Amino acid sequence: MRRVLLAASCVLMLAPSLTGAQGRTTAQRAAPLEPFRPRFHFTPERNWMNDPNGMVYYDGEWHLFYQYNPFGDKWGHMSWGHAVSRDLVHWEQLPLALAESDGVMIFSGSAVVDWRNTSGFGTDGKPPLVALYTGHRDGHQDQRIAYSNDRGRTWSKGGVVLDLNKADFRDPKVFWHAPSSRWVMTVALSPEYKVQFYTSPDLKRWTRSGEFGPAGSRGGIWECPDLFPVQVEGGGTRWVLIVNLNPGAPAGGSGTQYFVGDFDGQRFVPEGEVAQPLWADYGADFYAGVSWSDVPAADGRRVWLGWMSNWSYAQEVPTSPWRSAMSVARTLTLRRTPAGLRLVQRPVAELERLRRGVPRTFAGGTFTQASAWLAAQRDLPMLLDVEMTFAGASSAAPFALQLTTWPAESLALSIDPANRRIALDRTRSGRVAFHKDFPGVHTAPIRIANGEIQLRLLIDAASLELFAQQGETVMTEIFFPTGDSRALSLSATGTTPRVQQIRIHGLDSAR
Ligand code: FRU
Repeated sequence: MRRVLLAASCVLMLAPSLTGAQGRTTAQRAAPLEPFRPRFHFTPERNWMNDPNGMVYYDGEWHLFYQYNPFGDKWGHMSWGHAVSRDLVHWEQLPLALAESDGVMIFSGSAVVDWRNTSGFGTDGKPPLVALYTGHRDGHQDQRIAYSNDRGRTWSKGGVVLDLNKADFRDPKVFWHAPSSRWVMTVALSPEYKVQFYTSPDLKRWTRSGEFGPAGSRGGIWECPDLFPVQVEGGGTRWVLIVNLNPGAPAGGSGTQYFVGDFDGQRFVPEGEVAQPLWADYGADFYAGVSWSDVPAADGRRVWLGWMSNWSYAQEVPTSPWRSAMSVARTLTLRRTPAGLRLVQRPVAELERLRRGVPRTFAGGTFTQASAWLAAQRDLPMLLDVEMTFAGASSAAPFALQLTTWPAESLALSIDPANRRIALDRTRSGRVAFHKDFPGVHTAPIRIANGEIQLRLLIDAASLELFAQQGETVMTEIFFPTGDSRALSLSATGTTPRVQQIRIHGLDSAR
């Protein structure tokens, strides 16, 4: 199948008018040359990428810096790569922003717009972009500053601003705390399961103000913290402290936990119990999730994304000449549930602009009717945005939604309403043998209110992001199918729920 498509793609590339006539973009058809290249997720053109870094909005551009090895497709020579987007969907890769030098690697960190020029780095009355990152050399990590006066295109290094003489002290995330008119930094003491808080008047002189942890999961070391206020659905605001950790995530390897509470400018105080970790994403492939700073008040969203891979096998994934993608950008809110406030993620609305034409719609009916309708949906596009709502699910027996990509290859999502669990099985999803930890079945809890189960799936060339229950339970997983065909099917074992609606949108490539 792939071979056939490859031949077809060559023909189509030679005849662009033909591609137009068929309603497909050249990029999409050319893609089989790089079979696993995501079409609406950011990937560097070549080489290794891990954590998102320095995410800041300025002058109409969403900046995405990232951990990058300019010299190879495995981790090493860590530097900051750079991409910008005007809509969080289409990304343009720019030249390297910050390069390793003098044996010091540029580890993860953040960037802010210094609107008041507190740092003094600004020129011509324009605010500088200021980055805080970890300088890493063997056995030593410290926090360093750099700045840019040309919209992030070129950077000057400003040296060390915080040094505890520690081997594991990293990933500074900085924001302006308006009530105290000061900068705040969250930074991880990784093997101590602690996040420390520092404050500064000028981004250069930092004073410790507080500390959080150990708490939640200590299954692995703590990395890439973030702290921000989030709107509660229905009114109010709480602070969310993000703590990424590796290993120890529910799907194994690296993952993202969070705490909900209050922050007074110096200390974070969690609300309720913090012994049980809360997880932002139950899939295997969402790590180092951090949010954008300086999103205009008129926009008002808290937007983040994560590295769509897992330290367990990231360096072995079968892609070339690049390794790793970012998740889609997602908005964050908090939802009141009987168990407390929970983080809710939704793909940013901008992604809906990729939806192509009229969606294929099942307007409601029995499970059997819905299964028959799905089976009749031939030639689904490779890039999909699927919405499904089930009703009367509380009393239903387990049922499953399968994404088939090749006769014997599929991803299976099973839903077990009685046990309030869903499970994603990628053991037969295509190329899985490159690492023993890759194939697996990963589970997540779901809360069912009024018997309704709502699913949204974003399917790219080599990933699936599942937003269940309006974003309350999220699973992000990469997979490497042999074919690029797509078919969806429903199956059940007993009492079935009613299918309220199915909408299948084909998506355009953003490349
Ligand atoms: C997280 C991490 C960070 C570190 C960076 C190095 O994935 O380990 O803690 O700064 O990657 O690339």
